[in-house]
Amino acid sequence: MTTLFDPITFGDIEAGNRIVMAPLTRNRAGPGALPTALMATYYEQRATAGLIVAEATQISAEGQGYRGTPGIYNDAQTEAWRHITDAVHEQDGRIALQLWHVGRISHVSLQPEGQAPVSSTARRANAQTFTAKGFEEVSKPRALRSDEIPRIVAEFAEGARRAIAAGFDGVEVHGANGYLLEQFLRDSINDRTDQYGGSEDNRLRFPLEVMAAIAAEIGAGRTGLRLSPVTPVNDAGQDSDAQGLFNHLIEHLAPLKLAFIHVIQGATGGAREGVPFDYDALRSRFKKGNPVSAWIVNNGYTRALALEAVESGRADMVAFGRPFISNPDLVARLRFDELLAAMDSETLYGGDAAGYTDYPELEAVPVGSEHRVGSDSWQAAARSGSAVQIIAGAVKKE
Ligand SMILES: Cc1cc2nc3c(=O)[nH]c(=O)nc-3n(C[C@H](O)[C@H](O)[C@H](O)COP(=O)(O)O)c2cc1C
Repeated sequence: MTTLFDPITFGDIEAGNRIVMAPLTRNRAGPGALPTALMATYYEQRATAGLIVAEATQISAEGQGYRGTPGIYNDAQTEAWRHITDAVHEQDGRIALQLWHVGRISHVSLQPEGQAPVSSTARRANAQTFTAKGFEEVSKPRALRSDEIPRIVAEFAEGARRAIAAGFDGVEVHGANGYLLEQFLRDSINDRTDQYGGSEDNRLRFPLEVMAAIAAEIGAGRTGLRLSPVTPVNDAGQDSDAQGLFNHLIEHLAPLKLAFIHVIQGATGGAREGVPFDYDALRSRFKKGNPVSAWIVNNGYTRALALEAVESGRADMVAFGRPFISNPDLVARLRFDELLAAMDSETLYGGDAAGYTDYPELEAVPVGSEHRVGSDSWQAAARSGSAVQIIAGAVKKE
């Protein structure tokens, strides 16, 4: 029986276990949307995840929607990411970059020359973003012209090329949470009358072009996609036929042989089962013909739910978001069924090391040696699953 702690090869990526660190925006990039040394420490601390999906990262200045998010559209950013991928690889971890265009979830103060954000529509979202002034209503967007869309597709592919140049093991396209791809997919948002709007095939066109361009640029075995078929976040109204839309999206994607699909079940950060949706219907469509690709599930997973998801075969990997914020050694804590530390929600977005890199690991002594959690021998013991005695909290042995 396959367990959460077993290694997995999906696409061209080999991971030591099936626990994914979900992408988490933390708004700590430097001026010029540059990744920082503090970010390298943060990701290095979490490198025992089978795969880290690094935080959403804009593919262009226009793709930015929040203050302090990193970019992957110039040489300085690409160089700076290299320090982060090196730090994770030195711990034998794997890291993919989440490629992001926010579309209309932005504010003129974050856009080049104060221009309007762009979207599939000119209708403003009833949503907020995080600017230099704190939380503000998003700005009214401008609907993209049909002839501008190839530029954005090319920027996604260029972001993917840069991500691989920066040492990432792969990329995850952000097709979730009401951002640009969903603004094209859902008929509740997309009000276009050109070849990118109207019929289901037309609404699928832009996301499919993005995925095909990236797969052609870096290889499908390093390319994944994140989806959230029914999430309401960022004013993403339900599609009139979400099941049909996402079934067909997956059917069209299957021949590309992507490395993974990462699906947020239900309302991101909220109820997983509030809106009826058959996720297994998507998984079976994807896995048919893609047996070595990973089906990653997310949203509100506990240890017990994650173990069950992998052991039952309903998922190949499980992504944890909030638990990774306050538990850098989450993999070890899950492995040994240790208590999880609570997250401080005051320090999520922006700031310094507080609430970012200062969450402690449990102290631990691998049996027969004297090393703390985080030391090389701890990492090796945690990966191999050999017996480890946890000192802090309840003492447990495998
Ligand atoms: C602080 C914070 C930042 C997030 N940033 C992103 C992001 O950059 N990209 C994304 O796709 N989801 C983002 N999410 C959603 C998480 O990846 C995840 O889907 C959500 O937290 C539910 O998983 P969990 O219950 O394991 O936390 C974010 C969530 C939180 C709490």
